[in-house]
Amino acid sequence: MVIAIDGPAGAGKSTVARAVAQRLGFTYLDSGAMYRAVGLALLERGGAASEVAAALEIELGERVLADGRDVTEAIRAPEVSEAASKVATNQAVRAELVAKQRALLAGGDWVAEGRDIGTVVAPDAELKVFLVADPAERARRRAAELGVPAETVLRDQALRDAQDTSREHSPLRPAAGSVELDTTGLTIDQVVDRVVDLAAARRA
Ligand code: CDP
Repeated sequence: MVIAIDGPAGAGKSTVARAVAQRLGFTYLDSGAMYRAVGLALLERGGAASEVAAALEIELGERVLADGRDVTEAIRAPEVSEAASKVATNQAVRAELVAKQRALLAGGDWVAEGRDIGTVVAPDAELKVFLVADPAERARRRAAELGVPAETVLRDQALRDAQDTSREHSPLRPAAGSVELDTTGLTIDQVVDRVVDLAAARRA
């Protein structure tokens, strides 16, 4: 079974997807980490984005490895968020990463999280969830995570939201048949319960 969880930055995707995967014994796929790894590689050594995406050996798990190097922390830096969002507009890069994601999702049970899982990567996913939340609340959550002022995050977030929703290829939008879940004012546990219930109903 594949559970697709999409939505904008700070809607709670990663935390929720990770927790749902743990509760159900599924494997968690953080597709954003792949775009971040490519963004980091481009910031560090430049080159043609599509070639970097094709050549970079990305391993996801407890730690994120890029060509064997542990980049788990490095890919979370704000400048890497921006680089990832920028490189994610490139169709050749997307094709490379979507192929890698589909190969992973071909076997076993997964909770996959990103921007285009339900629309492009796994449109046949048994459950598709689109997580949203009020922009101010999303910025507050991310600011607490990163230990930086919420105003800075809000500005960067608005830029990235605009880039992600307006890009030509695979823009961020709810997939057909997805369940929209507004996480504003909900605790993580409430959201996780809801997704787990939806998954149980789809499996039955
Ligand atoms: O953690 P956060 O939600 O802020 O971002 P992320 O999921 O790590 O993704 C970083 C960037 O990669 C996003 O801003 C998107 O531009 C891009 N991305 C994408 O285009 N498609 C995906 N499936 C996942 C991420």
